[in-house]
Order: sequence, then C-alpha cells, then structure tokens
Amino acid sequence: MDIINFVKQYIKNPRTVGAVAPSSEKLGYKMIEDIDFLNTSCIIEYGPGTGVFTEKILKEKKEDTVFIAIEYNRDFYKILKGKFEDEKNFILINDSAEKLRQYLDKYNICNVDYIVSGLPFASLPENISQNILSVTKEILKNKGEFITFQYTLLKMKLFRKYFCKINKKKVLLNLPPAYVLRCKN
Ligand SMILES: C[S@@+](CC[C@H](N)C(=O)[O-])C[C@H]1O[C@@H](n2cnc3c(N)ncnc32)[C@H](O)[C@@H]1O
Repeated sequence: MDIINFVKQYIKNPRTVGAVAPSSEKLGYKMIEDIDFLNTSCIIEYGPGTGVFTEKILKEKKEDTVFIAIEYNRDFYKILKGKFEDEKNFILINDSAEKLRQYLDKYNICNVDYIVSGLPFASLPENISQNILSVTKEILKNKGEFITFQYTLLKMKLFRKYFCKINKKKVLLNLPPAYVLRCKN
C-alpha cells in the first residue's frame, strides 16, 4: 500500500521524502487542472513518489507528449516502474532533479512546457533547492510553468528569486492542507 511505503520511506529519509503520506486525489487534480494538455509537447515531473500526480498526467496527456518523471528514491522508483513502465512516451529516471539537464540532452529535448513538482523544498538543503530551481527556470519555454505544492508559504521568497509571476490556491482536502503554486518566468 502506498501509505505504508510512504511512512517507511519518511522514517528512513525524512528530509528528502518530506511528507508522511502521499498527496490526496484532490491535490493531484488541483496540481494539473490548468495544464493545457492539447498544446504541450513535453512535461517533467520532479519527485513523483508513489505516483499520485503521475497517474493523472498520464491519463490526460496526448499520446505523443513526452513525459519524464525523475525520482531520487530507489524504492519509490521501483514502485513507479511497476505501475507505469508500459506507458507510451513516458520516461522514468532514478536520479536527482538537479541532473535534469543531462537527461534532456540525452533525449534531445531543448525546453519543456510544464514542470510539475512534488519536491519538499521546505526540508531540502538550500543548495539543492537552488540548483533545481535554477535548471527549472532555464529549461522552461517562454510561456512554460513550474507547478509545485507547499504546506506553508515559508519558501515564497526562494520561488520569487526565480519566477516573476506566482499564482497560488489553497487545497484544504489534503493532510496537511497545501498551497498549489503556479510559477512563470
Ligand atoms: C513530498 S514527497 C511527494 C511525492 C508525490 N509527488 C506526492 O505528492 O504524493 C517528495 C518526493 O520527492 C522526492 N525527491 C526528493 N528530493 C528529490 C530530488 N532531488 N530529485 C528527485 N526527487 C526527489 C522524494 O523521494 C519524494 O518522492
């Protein structure tokens, strides 16, 4: 069960897992509801965990849209592989989101439309967060969006360093309630 796997992984790696349970279905829908799936050639997901957002993106995306999910935790990666490995144009990577640029080069992708993130910026080391946000800004298309969720607004200053426009909405049906942030260059 996803919840048991989550608790186990949180106990082993509290700072990188950053939550004791997967996101709720409601938060999953709120994360992806503004994506223009019809006009999207590439979507990236950081930190898919057990795949709450991944599943929804796979359901909505066009078959020819390339979707790359990058998960650092080996156990979560194996769970995701078991669930989604047969999906078309879906690439699952077991590595840190910091290394995204090298994978985009490998697959000849210059820039992307959306980056959906489940990363726990509140608990990740500051230098890792900065590296990830810097590569994120660099690879997003002009009208591209970085969509992330946070349990508090404590990291807004960090996001504002990289993105000019940030739209936020609160999702109460999640444990704990969360903010969905849509960030644009
Ligand atoms: C709060 S959990 C969110 C999981 C899932 N997206 C959800 O909402 O249920 C954070 C996830 O980010 C992953 N993670 C942490 N640091 C990472 C990094 N540098 N690169 C990729 N994934 C990372 C963790 O292993 C974990 O799966």
